[in-house]
Amino acid sequence: MSYFTRFMASTAIALSATFISVGMADAKNFKIAVGDSGGSSQEATGVAFVQALEELSGGAHTATLFLNGQLGSEQDTVNEAAIGTLDMSILAINNVTPFSPTVGVFSLPYVILSLEDAEKLTQGPIGQELTENTIEDAGVRIIAWTYTGFRRLTNSKKPVTSVADLQGLVIRVPKNEIMIDTYKAWGISPTPMAWSETFAGLQTGVVDGQDNPYTTINAMKFYEVQKYVTNIRYIFSIEPLIISEQVFQELSAEDQQTVLDAGKAATAASAQFLRDKEAEIKQILLDEGMEISDPENNEEEFIKLATEAVWPKFYDSIGGIEKMNAVLAEIGRAPVSE
Ligand code: MLT
Repeated sequence: MSYFTRFMASTAIALSATFISVGMADAKNFKIAVGDSGGSSQEATGVAFVQALEELSGGAHTATLFLNGQLGSEQDTVNEAAIGTLDMSILAINNVTPFSPTVGVFSLPYVILSLEDAEKLTQGPIGQELTENTIEDAGVRIIAWTYTGFRRLTNSKKPVTSVADLQGLVIRVPKNEIMIDTYKAWGISPTPMAWSETFAGLQTGVVDGQDNPYTTINAMKFYEVQKYVTNIRYIFSIEPLIISEQVFQELSAEDQQTVLDAGKAATAASAQFLRDKEAEIKQILLDEGMEISDPENNEEEFIKLATEAVWPKFYDSIGGIEKMNAVLAEIGRAPVSE
């Protein structure tokens, strides 16, 4: 080999090494905390996000899911993302509310009455405004929405079909004022507990029950420690994928767009997961021995007590009665007055 050929060959190797190292420096493997375990709606959103991110970035970027609260309680992950020590988290919106109160509108009882309502609200101007509020208030940006379905009450003691049946039960709720006040409106004082401690709380009998959607009850294997399910459907659970705003701002404009587009794909996949799987998962719960009942009178008693006591109390924190009416209008419902 001539000197020239050897020189060109070694230069080519050096150049390609430089390109590789530039590529590697930019390559990201985002760490995503996930509150729920495998088989959950949260996991479905996460998997769809990783797949879309890899495809849209031509394999340059990926992300790794850390399931089942391995990276801490859902509320802790918001703090960590805010300071940039965690890239992303998928968690229930009720666990974002303490950091950004206006998203509480999605946890007000009996506001969202269907998956279609949830899609309309999250993907329209209201969702955009709440996304901006969480950046401002909490230092995290919502980039995808998980639609997990209606939260259903479970307990280990007895069938519950009325507010009267609920009395005497010790029910775990997230550390969320709206949910605490909802149970108070139903006459009991619930026990606030982090999500990551809930299975153990149910198993040891510290609490008798909790509420979460079918897909979550199944993924978390709550049927091992809970027998009775009541379809109170008071909250349609929405569980965003958030990214640390600090991490987001460190990305190039092109990578930011890729992350946002991957988030859109994950949102669509989440709605599809719920449409495809919810009935099947309900059947799994029955096969595992759970008893599922509907409340008497179509939930009227639960609805009346919760909406009358809880909605007005939180108008201020969600941005005023006008905001409440904008949300109701968006989903074709009648306005409320003071
Ligand atoms: C909670 O109950 O704290 C959450 O809804 C749990 C979850 O993220 O699934």
